[in-house]
Amino acid sequence: MSAPNKSYDPVEVEALKPEQIARMRDEALAAIAAAGDLAALHEVKVAHAGDRSPLALANREIGALPPHAKADAGKRVGGARGEVKRALGIRQEELEAERDERVLVEEAVDVTLPLDREPAGARHPLTTLMERIEDIFVAMGYEVAEGPEVESEWLNFDALNIAPDHPARTMQDTFFVESAATDDDQSGVVLRTHTSPVQIRSMLDREPPVYVICPGRVYRTDELDATHTPVFHQVELLAVDEGLTMADLKGTLDHMVQSLFGEGMTTRLRPNYFPFTEPSAEMDMECYVCRGASVGDPDRPCRTCGSEGWIELGGCGMVNPRVLTACGVDPEKYSGFAFGFGIERMLMFRHNVEDMRDMVEGDVRFTRPFGMEI
Ligand code: DAH
Repeated sequence: MSAPNKSYDPVEVEALKPEQIARMRDEALAAIAAAGDLAALHEVKVAHAGDRSPLALANREIGALPPHAKADAGKRVGGARGEVKRALGIRQEELEAERDERVLVEEAVDVTLPLDREPAGARHPLTTLMERIEDIFVAMGYEVAEGPEVESEWLNFDALNIAPDHPARTMQDTFFVESAATDDDQSGVVLRTHTSPVQIRSMLDREPPVYVICPGRVYRTDELDATHTPVFHQVELLAVDEGLTMADLKGTLDHMVQSLFGEGMTTRLRPNYFPFTEPSAEMDMECYVCRGASVGDPDRPCRTCGSEGWIELGGCGMVNPRVLTACGVDPEKYSGFAFGFGIERMLMFRHNVEDMRDMVEGDVRFTRPFGMEI
């Protein structure tokens, strides 16, 4: 029979001997002192203060001791564990402070250094100007309509009342993609020379009333120089409804130039000829820089309008009834007005761009000063 438990001496339990506890504590304290960073300290914590650390295991032995021996052993182990815990806390704080200091140095940002980021691009001013014009008309209830740049000869010319032998057809120097089989055949294919064929497409696609704004790229066989480019942009507008008159056209134009160039701006119409409008007019806007003050005053020349007082915008008129008929719209019931103008030209006088080539070369040094509007 074994002896009763009460004669059990904690000193006899190897793990609870004072020198063993002192050794465990000293090893833990040495490891804590040697931990060079927070990760190492974490490992030390697991090894020397975790559930399976020598001191924790020793602590478990206490439960098996007789009551009179528990207090003594508990004090010894508890004292050692307390010391280890405090040392861990102190070392943790030291290492955190060291880390914070290092991070401040290593991750410092010198806000005075020049930026080395990729330079951001910029939207092309032609795009932003076109979108601005679209917005003006969308706000008035117009719809944005687009058509193909490779267009049938019929839509680009014939449906617009530009007959095969019409001088306008030769006046517009056209890129032919496919020639018509014969002279009066209408089956050729061209790069559209204007956005007016989108008028035709819009009327063929919709029942009146039709209110569309048609921005787009157009092509003519011009050499690229300071004032010409073989590819450029136009904005076309078409309104077809009952009772529309030239007064509606004039009011619409005035609204557009006021929205783009400022309060009180006005336009004027000069008689002209276009096969697809009757009557037709050339539209000018008041010079938004000198407002006419430069006219006849050599002391106040205006670069924007060349001291003319007016800036030519484009063409306009009441849609020719023949065009309405070609599109299946009854000219007895409906009337329409239309206008079209070039965006490059507007960008030139609106922003004093002197060379058309700057607009097509794609250099961000040209586009960036116009801003990053998105
Ligand atoms: N299509 C014409 C051109 O490119 C411009 C134009 C004139 C458009 C009169 C129109 C208009 O809609 O009514 O020269």
